[in-house]
Amino acid sequence: MNIQENISLKNYNTFGIGAIAKFFLEINSLLQLQKALQLSAYPEKFIISGGSNMLLTKDIDALVLHINLKGISVFEDDDETVVIKVMAGENWHELVLWSLELGYGGIENLSLIPGNTGTAPIQNIGAYGVELKDVFVSCQAMHIKTQELHEFTKEDCKFGYRDSIFKNDAKGEYIITSVKLKLTKNGHTLNTFYGAIEEELEQNNIIHPTIKDVSNAVIAIRKNKLPDPAEIGNSGSFFKNPVVSKKIFEAFQKKNPDAPYYEMGDKKFKIPAGWLIEQCGYKGKRFGDAGVHPKQALVLVNYGNATGEEILDLAFTIKKAVLDKFKISIVPEVNIIK
Ligand code: EPU
Repeated sequence: MNIQENISLKNYNTFGIGAIAKFFLEINSLLQLQKALQLSAYPEKFIISGGSNMLLTKDIDALVLHINLKGISVFEDDDETVVIKVMAGENWHELVLWSLELGYGGIENLSLIPGNTGTAPIQNIGAYGVELKDVFVSCQAMHIKTQELHEFTKEDCKFGYRDSIFKNDAKGEYIITSVKLKLTKNGHTLNTFYGAIEEELEQNNIIHPTIKDVSNAVIAIRKNKLPDPAEIGNSGSFFKNPVVSKKIFEAFQKKNPDAPYYEMGDKKFKIPAGWLIEQCGYKGKRFGDAGVHPKQALVLVNYGNATGEEILDLAFTIKKAVLDKFKISIVPEVNIIK
């Protein structure tokens, strides 16, 4: 096995944090993963895949396993739908483009989300009215301690808003190795009700959009609002949008009648954290190389050489400001590695 030493992880996490991995190994097959997990000379292992939802705040004194499992295959196929099996190391957006090329619908609203397919279930990625769970069938994951492969059905995964069993009961216990998704071949269900998508389609005079049109609209919206990690380090939304009870929401709304919100059903209300942060004056603010994106206050950015600690300090400052001003607690969506 080609274990490398003292490797910078700057190009392996979308925040572009230059933490050092003491040991580093590229994983290209399930067998190799099994063997690597059994290496007793390296008792501490750390898993990295697309690195799109993590903030590294220190060097990693462990064997870093970079999950690079590749391959997409058709698992089931009938007149209406197709079930595809995607290996964990496949880039998510390239998968979306692949599915559009073949005319498969279901993930077009999830265009341009950074990261790999294997990590998509962990936080149940979502955007513009669609979440991974809407097309998810199951995933296969390797148990880190026993190296056994387990199949998790959609129910097993206990998906919620940016949440799953892999962030809770099963946290740190499994490595997702592949994901099965069910996509439509015809009669696609288009989700264009999200305001920004409707506007984008209208501007382009598209009345009967195809899945490709929806994807193009999402790409245009994201490019306009969200920084490209290849240019400015970031991890997408840093915080989750807080979900509050009706009682808390009503008190909040009384004081902030213009605040945007989404009614979630079940007497729960979601308040956009980006709005809360902007109201606290942090949108576009920069402290050294750590900053808040000028077009979307929910996104923290690394303008070059910010450390993970500097980003984390900024996150704490923002969290405190929001709590002081609105009495609402916002929590990170990003996995913080301490
Ligand atoms: N807003 C502000 N100021 C800001 C940002 C947002 O006032 O700086 C307001 C907007 O005007 C709008 C509302 O907040 O009224 C919602 O904004 P937006 O539509 O941009 O969506 P979001 O709630 O901020 C969520 C996801 C994004 C996803 C978008 C679109 C979370 C944590 N974030 O953001 O996901 O792309 O909706 O569906 O749920 C990600 O997870 O990395 C991500 C980018």
